[in-house]
Formats: sequence, C-alpha cells, structure tokens
Amino acid sequence: MNKITLYPDKKLHSLGDLWGIFFEDINHAADGGLYAELVQNRSFEFSKIDNWKYNSLTAWERIGNCEIEVKNEYPLNRNNTHYLALKLENGEGGVKNLGFNEGMNIIKGEEYEFSFYGRRNTGFKENVNIFLINKDTGAVIASESVKITSCDWEKYEGILLATEDATCHLCVTTSGKSTVYLDEISLFPPTYKNRDNGLRRDIATLLADLKPKFMRFPGGCLVHDGNLDPHARNALYRWKNTIGDVSERPARRSNWGYNQTLGLGYYEYFLFCEDIGAKPLPVLPAAYNPHHHDAVPFDELQPWIDDALDLIEFANGSADTKWGKIRAELGHSEPFNLEYLAIGNEEVGDGFFDRYPYFHKAIKEKYPEIKLIGSSGPFPCGGEFEKGWKCARDNKSEMVDEHYYVSPEWMIANNKRYFEYKKEDPKVFLGEYASWGNTFYNALCEAGYMTSMEMCGNVALACYAPLLCNVDYVNWKPDMIWFNGEKAYGTPNYYVQKMFMNNQGTAAIEHNVLSEKPSVPVADESITGEIFFKTVDTAAYFYDIKLNGETVNEKGFTLKNEGSQMQKLDYCGNLEDFELECKAKELDGKRGFIIRFGVKDYGNFYHWEFGGWQNQDSAVCSTVNYRESVLGHELRSVEKGREYTLRVVVNKNRICCYIDGELVHDVVSKPVVIEPIYTSASTDEDGRIILKVVNIKNTPYKATVDVQRTINSVKAQMLTGNLDDENSFDEPLKIAPSDIDVKFNGNIVEHEFSPCSVTVLVIG
Ligand code: AHR
Repeated sequence: MNKITLYPDKKLHSLGDLWGIFFEDINHAADGGLYAELVQNRSFEFSKIDNWKYNSLTAWERIGNCEIEVKNEYPLNRNNTHYLALKLENGEGGVKNLGFNEGMNIIKGEEYEFSFYGRRNTGFKENVNIFLINKDTGAVIASESVKITSCDWEKYEGILLATEDATCHLCVTTSGKSTVYLDEISLFPPTYKNRDNGLRRDIATLLADLKPKFMRFPGGCLVHDGNLDPHARNALYRWKNTIGDVSERPARRSNWGYNQTLGLGYYEYFLFCEDIGAKPLPVLPAAYNPHHHDAVPFDELQPWIDDALDLIEFANGSADTKWGKIRAELGHSEPFNLEYLAIGNEEVGDGFFDRYPYFHKAIKEKYPEIKLIGSSGPFPCGGEFEKGWKCARDNKSEMVDEHYYVSPEWMIANNKRYFEYKKEDPKVFLGEYASWGNTFYNALCEAGYMTSMEMCGNVALACYAPLLCNVDYVNWKPDMIWFNGEKAYGTPNYYVQKMFMNNQGTAAIEHNVLSEKPSVPVADESITGEIFFKTVDTAAYFYDIKLNGETVNEKGFTLKNEGSQMQKLDYCGNLEDFELECKAKELDGKRGFIIRFGVKDYGNFYHWEFGGWQNQDSAVCSTVNYRESVLGHELRSVEKGREYTLRVVVNKNRICCYIDGELVHDVVSKPVVIEPIYTSASTDEDGRIILKVVNIKNTPYKATVDVQRTINSVKAQMLTGNLDDENSFDEPLKIAPSDIDVKFNGNIVEHEFSPCSVTVLVIG
C-alpha cells in the first residue's frame, strides 16, 4: 500500500504570500473587460497610433439627421483634445455607441450611470436625450434627457433604469438648429462593491473568489514597451498618467494593439487590491525599453527614480506628504501598505542591468522596508536569465521575477526546478507562468508543478499569466478567465489556482511519500528524428552541409522570403547522436536561420533559431504536441549577407549549438518522468493540516495518510475530468472542484486518489 506520512510539527518554511494573481491589460482585460465602462472610445481619442483600424469615431455611428465631426479647437483639457460636434439642421439626430463585443449587456431593473461633458452654441436650447436601445429590436429600454446650460464644458450626469434584459447601444441625440459639443460620454453598470469608476462585478468576483495574496499589475510588456517621453501617446507605462479625474488621463497606445483609456489606473488597482485582500505589487519600467533597446541616459534617470519613490509615497505616505495628500484627496486617507515593488518586466539587455542598481539604491536608501524585485527576462534559462540573477544577487534584491510559458511536459520534466535553487540567493517571484493550453491536462500538470513550489522553500511569490481574455479580442492564449460582454468563466487552470489559493497554508511541513510503483518515464530521453532547415519571412542560403563530418549537400539550397519556408535534409533518416554543420547566409528579410532536428512530426521536434524574434535572439526550443518550451536563450543577431558556420551537436539529450566555432548553447532537454504522485503539505493559522495530492497518471493511487495526530475532521475537494476537457460559456463548470467524502480513523486517512486528479484535504 502507498503511504503518505505527515509531520505536522516539523515546519519547513513560511508560505508567506505565495499565490497571487497578475493583471495586465492584454486581450482587452481592462477596457472592455474588468473596467466596467460600457462605452468604447468614450472620449473620441482613438487613433491610428493605437491600431491602424481606429479613428476618432471608432465604435460610434451617426443616427438621424445631423452632421457629426470630431474637432479639437476648444478641447475639454490638454489630455483630452478631441470631442464630438453635433450639428443639427432639421429634426432629431445624434450618435450611438456600439460598446465592446456585440454591444452593451443591459440587465432589467439595474441602474446605469451615464455622464458626459457638453457645451452648446448660444442658440442651442433643446434637450439632449440619452437612451439605450435594444440593438436587435430597436426598442428603447431606458432613457433620460438633460439640458445643456453652458457654452463652456460642464459635466452632466444621470441614471438610466433598464426595463428589459437586452444587448444594447447607447444613443445620444438632440434636435433644433444649432451645434452641440460632447465629450467623455460614459455609461457604467453597477460595479464591484459599488465603486465609482469601478469594475465589472462578475469578473471581479471571480478574481476575489480566488483569495489571492497579492496582485501584480499593470503588466507585462505593457509596462516597458513604448516611448521614453511620458507625454508621448505610446509612452512606457507611467503611473502618474493614470490617477485623478478620468477625463484628464491621457489616452495611451497599448502594445497589445488597442487604446487604453487608463480609466483603470493605479488608484483603482490599489483599491481593488484592498477590496479583495491582495497585497499590491506594482511593476515600474526601468527607464528602458528592451523591445527596441531604447534607454534613458544615466544623467536623465532621476525622474524615473522619482516615479518609483513617489509611488511609494503615494501608496504609503501620510496625508501630509505630497503624494500621500494626493491619495487622500482621491478618497483614501489611509495608506495602501505597499510592501513589494518590481523594477522592470522580463528585461533583457545591459540597458536594464546597468540601470537597475540606481533604482535599487535610491529606493532602499529612502524605503529600506520595501521588498524589491529584479527581472530575469522572458525565459527560464540563458544568458539574460543568468544576468538577471547576477544583478539581483549583486544588488541584494529580495526577489527575482522569472517568466516562462512552456509545454505541460516541460512542467513535468522540470517539476523539481526550484529545489535546486540556493537558499542564500534572492527568492523567486514567478511573475508569469503557464503551460500552453486551457485543458484539464494543462491544469493538472500546473498543479503538480505548484506542489513543488510550495515545498521547495525558494519561491516566495507566484502568479499564473495572463489572467483575463475577452473572447472577441484575443492577443494571447491560454488565459485563466475568459469572458464576453455578458458572461465570464474560469478555465480548469483557474480552478487549480483557486484550490491552491483558497488552501495555501501558512507554513510547509515535512512529509514523505512511499509509493509501491516507481516513477514512469514517458518517452525515450534521447533526441532522435529528422533534420529540416527553415526560415520565417526571410530568404537564406544554406550550403556546404555536413553530417558527422561528411558532406551531404555541398551546393545547398535557398529558402525564399515568403512566410514560412522549410527544406528537409535528405539522406539522413532518423538520426541519433549526430553532428550537423552548415554554412548559412541571410539574403533578405526580417529574421535569421532555423534548424529543426529530432523531428518526429510537425508537432514534435527541437529547433535552434539564430536571429529569431526581431532578429535579436538565438534560442534552442523543444516542441511537444505543438507546444514550445525554450531550453536555451542568448541575445544574438544575424547580419545580412554575412557567411556563418552553424553547428549542432546532439548527444543523447544534450544539445550544443555553435556559431562560427563559438559555443552559444549547451543545454539538456530533461526527460519527462511522471512521478507516482505529487504532494505538498502545510499547516494553516488554525493548526489544520493541508495536504494537496496531484495524480497525473491515469491510474488510481490508493494511499494511507498517516497524520501522526488524532484527526477530528477532514474536508476534501477534488478536481478531475477528461484530459482534453475545457470549460466554456455553455459549460463553465465542466471542470470545477467538487466536495468529496474521505474516510478517517484515529490518525489515519484512507483514500484512493482518482486517476488524473487534484485533491486537497484539509485535516482538522
Ligand atoms: O502575459 C503575456 C505577456 O507575456 C506579458 O505581457 C509579457 O510580460 C510576457 O511576454
């Protein structure tokens, strides 16, 4: 019989704030998502800079008899420069806003708060009508009218009471023979905790239900992709632009290809953290944009460092400090108790590593209690990753932010990754991670990985990414929660996160597992398969190709600059332990060379890309069932027209890649070995014991759990299903945990852990 023995008195380490969430406005997670505003392009600020399809009337349509024009001669303020001129000549006319998705989801009996800024020409005396129409039937389901009383901008507000459930458009019309000017036309449903300028209830509730210990925000690439000038529309994310009156927040280009109103800004983030009991964890740009290697000169760093210092004062300072006063004036006199601050998001390049120390020193001098988090790039390994760790060690950062998106098999193969970290090093903040996919199988492998994060003692904080996705605006997949204009649902990954967050425990405890059957290797660990040469949007000439020292194709071949091009290396068969050498020249295009090896089929192979992603990277990757994991990464660019000698040496599961004789990658693809069971054990503040058991295999695991003290109660939850199952709008709870009965007697729990399951036992 399998046996799990728990040692409740042997505490290993604190679990602190381990499980949290990461919010980034990607996939319309904020505008058109968590931020409850129903009007899209409310201030007529949409622009081609945000998205080539946008213009200042995006999401607006003219209705009735009028002329509409977006103007900027007499703006509302210097940040909100465009407004609508509605010119009436004959009868009624105006505009309607289409909202996000299919339209605005309006619920009968609910009150919707509208507001707009208006001004009129002297002759204009008519009412402005604000109403919701059912977009399918045209029926008016709520209406109000307002008199514009001034020739200067004034704010007008009111309530629309919905008389039916419908998908709607918001209309604003008037009549007469004159011109009226409108801006910042807004409509809010009842929000989470009834906050002004608040959040969508269903999505916020799904997040609150997780009970996260912290929330990382506001990004992601969103933070560090953009212009260094804070006033530029495509500026790096500057927090000071995001507080105060929403009509004065500048519109921003998001690198995710849309407009950010910044209506959900730093003050709202802090409030939401407080509302859901999560510690805030902001990420600030480090005066550097790694996507374009733009860096602020050292003698101009101070304003960026001040942004960090001022943010801490804004969050924690008393109301008689400059920024604490601003917070108090916004409605929060008490501090937000900021404890964590990250400088940079997955940074690569010396531009970051050279600047981070200035931030670190200044912050620690003024606020030694703030726990600072450095960055180690977008991959779990490689030169920039190592530099990130070195930078954090040298500066004594409390944590290093690691990010990776990998195959579920990578998570199985690397399950013990964090046990190998050194106790004396900074702790890990796993600020972004996910296996590629939202199936139950993904969630199961993530759960196995999470048990190790609880047990290793080297991971301080971790959060899955991305968090939210609007189904009609997908930038990135998978995501933890999916929504449309009407509904939201959690994926299996969400329910794994929820089980772990709801049952985190305060300290890990010692336990051991004795299994009858051994671990199971999933596949042969040697890399075997065919070889292909490939390019993407690039013309390249590969020639003088040698295999194990013998020339197999001297003349070579050219791949064209036409999307994705691939050529198989003939005569090589299913290679094992080989040495491939070739010459390569980039002739034209955007990237460099790709060599695929160990190719089993289109979805299962290894590759080395030299000159990948904006021709910046050299990376070795494995792909399992179409899902890629990076095994090695360095910054390297290909020069057009230059001849390179490329060499790949594969020995069992070790891959070495050379450029012109220089060893650039030396990596091992870890074998995928499924353990009989993955477990973590902890205690909570009430002295209960929490045992998490993840059974990735498709056979039951019957075990005796010896708790080594009398058991009074056991509450248990299990998540299981078919490996391919996903949740959906129609079946949002197809994969969701359910309560199960567990038998116990004296010190012993007897339980058969179901095949492919995640089980949490809370033992009182
Ligand atoms: O989570 C999606 C993106 O992945 C984040 O913006 C970025 O940090 C990472 O590359």
